[in-house]
Amino acid sequence: MKKNSFYVTTPIYYVTAKPHLGSLYTTLLADVIARWNKLLGNDTFFLTGTDEHGQKIAQAAAAAHKEPKDFVDGFISDYKHAWQMYDIQYDKFIRTTDEYHVKGAQKFTIELMNKGYIYKSVYEGWYCTPCETFVVEIHAGDQRLKAPQCPTCGRDTHIVSEETYFFKLSAFTDKLLQFYKENPHFIVPKERAHEVINFVESGLKDLSISRTTVKWGIPFPHDPHHTLYVWVDALSNYITGVGYGQPDKINEFHKRWPAQVHLLGKDIVRFHAVFWPAFLMAADLPLPKQLLVHGWIKVDKQKMSKSFGNVIDPVELCNTYGAEPIRYYLLRQMAVNQDGDFSIADVENRIESDLANDLGNLLNRTLVLAEKYDCMNVAPSVVWSPASLELRDASWDAIEDFTEHMNEYMFHHALSSLWKFIHSTNAYFHGQEPWKVAKTDINLFKEIISATCHSLRTIGLLLWPVMPKKMEELLHNLGAEFKLEDHTLENLELNSWNKHFMLKKSKTLFDKPAVAKAMADEPVQEEGKSMSQQQEVVQQEEKSYITIDDVVKVELLTGTIEACTDVEGSDKLVKMTVDLGSHGKRTILAGIKKSYAPAELVGKRGLFITNLKPRKMAGMESQGMMLVAEDTNGKVQLVQFPDSVGNGVRLR
Ligand code: MSP
Repeated sequence: MKKNSFYVTTPIYYVTAKPHLGSLYTTLLADVIARWNKLLGNDTFFLTGTDEHGQKIAQAAAAAHKEPKDFVDGFISDYKHAWQMYDIQYDKFIRTTDEYHVKGAQKFTIELMNKGYIYKSVYEGWYCTPCETFVVEIHAGDQRLKAPQCPTCGRDTHIVSEETYFFKLSAFTDKLLQFYKENPHFIVPKERAHEVINFVESGLKDLSISRTTVKWGIPFPHDPHHTLYVWVDALSNYITGVGYGQPDKINEFHKRWPAQVHLLGKDIVRFHAVFWPAFLMAADLPLPKQLLVHGWIKVDKQKMSKSFGNVIDPVELCNTYGAEPIRYYLLRQMAVNQDGDFSIADVENRIESDLANDLGNLLNRTLVLAEKYDCMNVAPSVVWSPASLELRDASWDAIEDFTEHMNEYMFHHALSSLWKFIHSTNAYFHGQEPWKVAKTDINLFKEIISATCHSLRTIGLLLWPVMPKKMEELLHNLGAEFKLEDHTLENLELNSWNKHFMLKKSKTLFDKPAVAKAMADEPVQEEGKSMSQQQEVVQQEEKSYITIDDVVKVELLTGTIEACTDVEGSDKLVKMTVDLGSHGKRTILAGIKKSYAPAELVGKRGLFITNLKPRKMAGMESQGMMLVAEDTNGKVQLVQFPDSVGNGVRLR
């Protein structure tokens, strides 16, 4: 079967610092799209890289007392290392300082010249250095006294006047409008397309594409006194990266170009949706099929960026939570077509609830029960019960919905629809009560395990593009090894529930944030979260006993809360001073604000673990832990004991 070529790109990143979460986000989207297309059986090529020329880089290098090339070289391993940590499987990493790219970009410019779209003249305008762009052209009689601000980054601009080569962008106004009309899906999402069309409709001016003032750049062909405008240099990476301008790679170029999709953030739409198509039209090259424009990751309501100083380090995040949970979080939490707020609380919620509880526990429970009742080798049922058939139907719907959303690049919808199916599988499993059925009807028990394994297999395969390593682990536990070479969605036959599973015992698939953090050697924050019904079942099944030696290790003392105050900025924590009789007084923090106002707690008595290692919460040290129990209304109750028991009495 002939495979379709699928070529996906990321923007190339300015290398003035290490990658941040925003750069990871774009790259991750491209990786998920590439992997999804591998699953669809397409011959995929994924290009990413770095944008290394221009004033901005030269200035940053000068500030670091380095030559520009040495300066950028220093960051490349940070990018490659971060992408490797997140299991980003690019096929090629392009650097605009690479020789083949320099030659290719020059050839592309010569092509534009030969077609008559480049001329030399003088340009004067307000220039934004951080954005490498002229903001306003200065015309005769311009009386402006104050520098206008850059509409993209909001910073001040300065006047630049220079002899320059122009690209006849104005010649493409109508052609571009016609192209957008004939290709209504060229720019996704639609809102971005409207902005572009409005901009082009207002008329395009010719574009200055060379600089004499910027020395750190590709020499302009036939006139090395000029350097090539950094955006012509950068955009041409999409073709030089697949062989353009390299005589030995002509076939590769024709095989790969045009790209199926360019990924980009909303700040660089104009360059990709107006300039790039116009350059390609001028050079008589085909246009990319689609631009997928994503929103910004914001921190504290502001775009995360090096210049705003609010960057989140993807490497640190990975060290604390693991790469795959962060991959999942970014795809699930962010709607690709909108801005989204990043928050650690959301990361932890997603990991705890979606990954550890919903998915990890489902696998764990299945394996624990199957092992307990000696059913690790699971044959498919010959006749399925109505409940199992209902689950199978739900799995078919899930595959259809997931595929539709993934093909539209609506990853958050794809994942939320798949999670509905995970909930259905959990409901099926719980409703069937296999731990009881095992004792009365072993065949039905086997059917429940088999149906759950079929569902888990579907889930594992669909989720592979998002969490490849974890899903390979999940499939391994089912004895359904994942091999990309012979696995496409088509030949996986997800619809046929006729698989034989050879289950393998596993370690926990996803650690809860507290465990993951403890393993990353970070302080842990206590949260009085109740256990879900599903977890209780696992607990029942997995009960492992402790000995009296373990019990006596815990120092449990009675005490009275002497004072209690609010912990500002936390919606859960209160800070208590606890009188522990002869053991003195302790500061103890507890996550019970939802059940008690601090004043209500003063004078109340309770039980405290007092030999727990002190830990920091909300910037304060907690020197113990209060024991509580949740009542039927979800209110947390303190443990009661008679007044005749004084403070500081050890429980035994
Ligand atoms: N070098 C140019 C792109 C040239 S492509 C031919 C550039 N580089 S960049 O490093 O500034 O940005 C690269 C990409 O990262 C852009 O798509 C940008 O939108 C994205 N992000 C940068 N910060 C971001 C967030 N805070 N959130 C999401 N993506 C963001 O522009």
